[in-house]
Parts: sequence; structure tokens; C-alpha cells
Amino acid sequence: MERVETLVAEMTLAEKIGQLNMVASTGVVTGPSGSRATHQGIRAGTIGGLFNLWGADEVRAVQRIAVEESRLGVPLLLGLDVIHGHRTIFPVPLAEACAFDVGLWERTARAAAEEAAADGIAMTFAPMIDVARDPRWGRIVESPGEDPWVASELAAAKTRGFQGGDLAAADSVAATAKHLCAYGAVTAGREYASVDVSERTLREIYLPPFSAAVAAGTAAIMPAFIDIAGVPMTINPTLLKGWLRERVGFDGVLISDYNAVAELINHGVAADSVEAAALALNAGVDIDMTSNTYTQGLPAALDRGLVTMADIEASVRRVLRLKERLGLFADPYRRGSAAPDDRDGKSRRLLAREAARRAIVLLTHRCPILPLSPNTRRIAVVGPLATAREEMLGSWASAGRPADVVSILEGLKAAMPDCRIDDARGVDIDGEDERGVAVAIDLCAHAEIIVLCLGESAAMSGEAASRTNLGVPGRQRALAEAVLGLGKPTVVLLSSGRPLALSWLFERADAVLATWFLGIESGHAIADVLTGKFNPSGRLPLSWLRSVGQAPIYFSQRPTGRPTTPGVHYSSSYLDMLSTPQFPFGHGLSYSRFVLSNLRCEPAVVKAGEEVQVSLEVRNDGPIGGEVTLFLFVRDLVASVARPVLELKGVRKLTLGADENRQATWRLPAQALAFIGENLEPVLEAGRFEIHVGQTADPAGFLTGVIELAT
Ligand code: NOJ
Repeated sequence: MERVETLVAEMTLAEKIGQLNMVASTGVVTGPSGSRATHQGIRAGTIGGLFNLWGADEVRAVQRIAVEESRLGVPLLLGLDVIHGHRTIFPVPLAEACAFDVGLWERTARAAAEEAAADGIAMTFAPMIDVARDPRWGRIVESPGEDPWVASELAAAKTRGFQGGDLAAADSVAATAKHLCAYGAVTAGREYASVDVSERTLREIYLPPFSAAVAAGTAAIMPAFIDIAGVPMTINPTLLKGWLRERVGFDGVLISDYNAVAELINHGVAADSVEAAALALNAGVDIDMTSNTYTQGLPAALDRGLVTMADIEASVRRVLRLKERLGLFADPYRRGSAAPDDRDGKSRRLLAREAARRAIVLLTHRCPILPLSPNTRRIAVVGPLATAREEMLGSWASAGRPADVVSILEGLKAAMPDCRIDDARGVDIDGEDERGVAVAIDLCAHAEIIVLCLGESAAMSGEAASRTNLGVPGRQRALAEAVLGLGKPTVVLLSSGRPLALSWLFERADAVLATWFLGIESGHAIADVLTGKFNPSGRLPLSWLRSVGQAPIYFSQRPTGRPTTPGVHYSSSYLDMLSTPQFPFGHGLSYSRFVLSNLRCEPAVVKAGEEVQVSLEVRNDGPIGGEVTLFLFVRDLVASVARPVLELKGVRKLTLGADENRQATWRLPAQALAFIGENLEPVLEAGRFEIHVGQTADPAGFLTGVIELAT
């Protein structure tokens, strides 16, 4: 603290603003890495943070300029989007969410932090904890899916993983929870579009993951690009100051999104960079990422009385405190000085394989062709993603290398050395060329089993990748129809960053697996599942739609006065489509079959401060051991405001051998039944609650009990 105060007292205005200025080492704003202008800015103390530069030597070189050549020697804050791995690339976040395993989520973040820190990185712009319910929005791939309870669990796990036990440790990086908030609710799923959500929805759905990140100690938070009801999040004092800082008690760093401060002019809320800088600073945004608006605008804003020196200094203190917490003053070179423990990355590769196979979701299994028989002699692996490597890295590859990826074909060949495996691309991911279809079909005609690899390219999801057509792009459907037309056993592997609306495929293929983008161990993980070495256990963290017209779709809908009733015209439904999803939240098949029975909720009447014990029996009826995932939902039957038909309150995973029985239990505190009341504050109202436990959010599979909350 003393150091921070001494520095603030010594700094010129330009140096203070410099601490609030983070530039990109490449890209439109500052030019290529190592540019003279960047070095000069660091030397002059007008650049306090740099991102997109990594590598021990590269980081050391710029850090040395900051520490040895700038007047006050304040170290630089080095940031990077380390989203789903750094060198070792794990499954994309939406895929990893399918594991529903906080331990795994934390371990992959820890491994990513170790690698990134060894490359000199001190801050990641992750985790992304935006609840996402609209698959048109490309960033759904970066999200934990549709549910705020899941997003909150993931927020805490990732924060713990990235930051480790001690933020100053050489292998810890500062987490940045993003993007506050409701980015997933962009109008019509269109990237960067306006958002209009109710205060209730903010408090119930979009804000809780951020409270969880703060409770887990996140060092930083990034406001979203979007505006909510006309107020861009970059300048939203009600949420950034009122809610985040005052109510939730966040005292870390707020860092703008890329160029977002300058874009306030495009939003139409600032006339120039002076106003833009003042608005953002006054809302509590400490660091201006890449836009140079603080540098350009804050001096004039100060002269005009639009900001105070006290506010500038408050932001500078927060940034310096973060640098202090990261141990940068004590040893600016501690990150990047040593390779991560396991230099060859073997243990991280194993972790990548574990994460990848647990992310795979067996969507359909119409004919029992899986696991593949070890006696299979000839397989045709066809489709544009069969040999893909770079695509498997997904939307944020950090330091990942395509050469490190095991493709689907390679994975299968390694797993089935005695089987003849031929491959053909057939068609490209996108484009109109169908000339390769005939070769692919010829190959398929000679095979016992066909593995058809369809999907999107990695660039079709992620930032600035909204789509309105959620089918497979290009001529992939033509290829698939031709393959399915052969009537041979066909397994489809679907690589994508979002659910795709493919009813025609689900109805015809023998089995379809969502394999997302699984990272460097893609091929091995997929082969593990196809051969039965690993019994699939991934479950969908979102409702998978039938048609793009159903978006947004999610299970925690509020009831309607006219519930969906088949055959009843004036009921909440579509004329041309079912209103249920193709696959419900939680869906995911296994080679085992789990049967639930004997749900008990005790006591039947609880009071505030007490708990309900929920328990049930699970039996594995299948021939092999496997993992079951159980979801605990509640429904508040009558309340002062209409409550959702289902709210997720807990998840349990159990491993059961063949024919094994086990009990699953939860202790559900009465407080978990509280909700945001009419006055937008949490209330606990007496009344009856249904408790549902199921393997998905489909009511058809529920065991149900009722409890009463008494006052
Ligand atoms: C823009 C994205 O919205 C954000 O998630 C990311 O961290 C920054 N760019 C920096 O790359």
C-alpha cells in the first residue's frame, strides 16, 4: 500500500493515465509487436499494460523497458485471452461445460494459468460467464450455456483455477470475469447488438455468475460491449458502481473491452473522446483497452471539470494494487522465468484428453452400433472435419498449435490399428463444390461402418460470428444425404461451437455425437468414446433447438396463462413446430442405462434457516459401468411474482458399475428457495414447492416430491 501511495504521489498526470492505458501488441491501434511507438510509450510511462504479447523472452524485453528505462520503473501488466488453454488447448468452454464438473473446470484453468504464466502472462481475459440462450450468437461457444446456477459454479471454479491459492505466485494469473452483463441477450442473436432485459432478468439470470466470480476473488471484471436499454455497459454507473462495487463489494480492476471506450461515440452517448473518457472513468472503468481514449481524452476532461483527479487516482490505485498483488513489483520477471513443472506437457495432455472425452455428448443412438465392435475390419471416415487440426483448436487458440492436434482420423487409426480406415473429405466445410462426394460414397460403399464428420469451422462461432442459419454449411447436407442413402451403419460426429438445428439428421443417422471443438486431444478422446474405452458422460448445458425459429430457448421459462397443449389452438405454441427442444438441457446418452427411484424430501415442512434433505436411489441397469448426472430442480407453485416452471438448484454426478445401486443426496437450504421479489430484493415466501430430480430438464423423466416452506 505504501508503495502504491508513494507512486501515485510521484506520478505526473501522463504517467497516471499511462497506468490506465493497455495497448495491443499487434492490431489496428498500436501496430505490430515491438513497434517503436509501443516501446517509446512504455519508456515514457504512458503505457501501463500490454496484451497479445507472450513468450518468456518477448515479455522480458518489454518488461525490462518498463522497469529499467521508465522514470518510475512501474512494471507492465501483460494480458492475453487464455480462454480454454494456452499451449495445451482444452475443449471450448461450451464443450467443457458439458462435463458438469467443477473439479475439472478448475484443473484445466490451473493448467492454462501455469502455461500462460510461464510465457510471461499475468492476466487472462477469462472466464466468460455470460449466460447464453440464443445459438445464433456465435459467442455461445465461449459460454457456460443457458443456466445461471451452472454459470456461477463455473465462474468460481475458473477463478480459483486461474488465480491459484496466491495471486503473486509465479504460476498464477489474474482472472477477468466477463462480460458484465447480459451480452448473451443481444437482439436477435446479432453480435454487438443492443440488449433490452428487465431488471428482474438481470438480477436472476445475468448477474449471479458475476457475484460468484467476485466471491471467488476475481481480480478483474470486463464490462460488455453492448448497451442495456440505451446505456452502454462501459459507462453504466448503476451496474458498475451501484451494483458491482457498492453492493457486491468488488474492489478489483474494471477493464474495458477492446476499443469499447472509443466506441461510446458510435453508441451515440459521447460526442468526442473527451466525453467518452470521462463517462467511462466516472462509471468506474479503470483500464482503457486499446482505444487510447483515456490518453487522448482525460487531460481535457480534467480541465473541463468532467472528471476529478481523485477519480483518476482511484483507478490508478486499483491498477497498481493489482500489480502489487501479482507480485510484479517484488519480481517483475517471475512469470516467464521458469517452464511449467511438467516441461513436456505430458500431464496436461492427459488432462486435455480427459476433458475432451468428458465433453462429448452422445445425442442419439437409434441403432446400437456403439461402442464399435473390436472386430470391425473396415471403416470409412468421411467429411470435411475428418482430418481437420486447426479447426479443433476452437475459437480462442492462444498459443495452441495445429501440429499438436490429434485429428479424428488419427485418433481412430491409433485406437483401431487392426482395422482398415480410409478417409475422404467429400466436400469442404463451406462452399458449393460437390465433386468429392462420389469418391466418398465409393469409400463408404466398401466399409462396414461409416464415421461422418460434419460441422462448422472454428471461425463460424466465437466473436463476430453470429449465424441465422443453424444447419451444416455449404454442401455438407448433400454429402450426408448421399451417405445416409447407402443404408449402412453411420455414426455422425458433429463439430460445432453451438447447437445446430438438424432434425433431418437426428432422425436418420444411427448415432450422433456432439464433439464441439475438443482441443489438442480431439481425435483420441473421440476414439475413446467410439470404441467404448470411455463411456460417454457429457450432458448438454443448454436446450438444443429444433429450429432457429425457437431461439432463444431455455428450460426455466416462466409459466404462461395458456400453457402449451397439443391440439389446443389458443395455447402457447407454434403452428409449424413443436415448442419443446430437440434435446433438453441435461440430455446426453450413455452406454449404461440409469434408473431413478424412491425420491425422498425430508422434512416435508421446513423453516427459514433449515434444510431439506433430498435423496433418491440410482441403479445402473446397463452392461457396463458409467457416470450418471442428476439435476435437482425446484418449482415455486404460488408466489407473489410468477416463478419459472423449473429452476436448477444442484447437480450430482455418480459413477456406478454394472448393476450397481447408489444413493444420491442433496442438502437444500431453505434459503435456496428465495427469489427476487416484487421490489427486486430477495424474499423467502412461505408456500409449497415441487422438488424434481431428473437426468435432464424434461419433466417426463422426473421424480417429484413436494415440500412446504413455513414461516
Ligand atoms: C474483444 C472480446 O469481446 C473480449 O472478450 C476479449 O477479451 C478482447 N477482445 C481482447 O481480445
